[in-house]
Amino acid sequence: MHTPRVFVTRSIPEAGLNMVLEACNADVWPEELPPPRDILIERIRGTEGVLCLVTDTIDAHVMDAAGAQLKVISNYAVGFDNIDIGAATERGILVGNTPGALTETTADFTFALLMAASRRIGEGIDYIRNGKWNTFKPMVLLGQDIHHKTLGIVGMGRIGIEVAKRAKGFDMEVIYHDYRMRKERGESAGAVLCKTLDELYSKADFITLHIPLSPETHHLINAEALAKMKRTAILVNASRGSVVDSNALYTALSTKQIAYAALDVTEPEPLPPNHQLMRLPNCLIVPHMGSATVTARSRMAVMAAENLLAGVRGQVPEYLVNPEVTPHRR
Ligand code: GLV
Repeated sequence: MHTPRVFVTRSIPEAGLNMVLEACNADVWPEELPPPRDILIERIRGTEGVLCLVTDTIDAHVMDAAGAQLKVISNYAVGFDNIDIGAATERGILVGNTPGALTETTADFTFALLMAASRRIGEGIDYIRNGKWNTFKPMVLLGQDIHHKTLGIVGMGRIGIEVAKRAKGFDMEVIYHDYRMRKERGESAGAVLCKTLDELYSKADFITLHIPLSPETHHLINAEALAKMKRTAILVNASRGSVVDSNALYTALSTKQIAYAALDVTEPEPLPPNHQLMRLPNCLIVPHMGSATVTARSRMAVMAAENLLAGVRGQVPEYLVNPEVTPHRR
């Protein structure tokens, strides 16, 4: 029986990795850091499938270097801005992702960020570690309430809906903007649609981003957008770093134009340790860990493995990003 050759760009949880190892002749990149581009190109050459991460840029050049036998690119992520989908579709390559596996997990984490920022948890931890906790202080580390505040959700997709549901438990008023203007979606989660982003920016106490990165959303949160937010606004980003212009955010935070930001993702990613955002007390940054639970990451691994295996076997992956593709290479 034909054993397909595949490249797996990082070690992923066993639940999925073992499925790939059992069914394929798999080359698994063993390092902690992503394979450098020249190595990626070398290792992908001659494979029928690649299982990759958001940190791997899979563009037309990489696809062509792989060769005409490449059937499937399976992303271990729900977002797929690291892959040139148009180029894959043109070449008849199926692209899979992992929607659903991390929806609620990422919504939980969004709330963790929102709460940590508004109640200044990171600063509180630093305070203790720096030996400053010598008594109860009535005026120190005062944050903002969450309950009964207005939450503005940008993007009412799967994760946006779950965030809205969580906000209801805090008696928040939830407003949202959605490029596709999905009115029913938000309403079913008790959220009210804002016709414009400006309306959302001006009303929201918390703004949380749940949109994919695309040419339309690149630097959506720029100086102009930040200037329309309340001075008390808290911005949460667990989507993609480049949705926010880091320089504009630095200026807005350092001049107190907005109050706080909590970022799971950054531009660039990772941020260099000496980056200006790292020095701001009102900017909480964590290392892209929205889906980082044992359960979600295992589910993602299984989904990514299933998508990969379907593709190399000439079947259509269940979670296909480019249904318009004609997989002519089977
Ligand atoms: C993580 O960032 C993902 O897109 O799954």
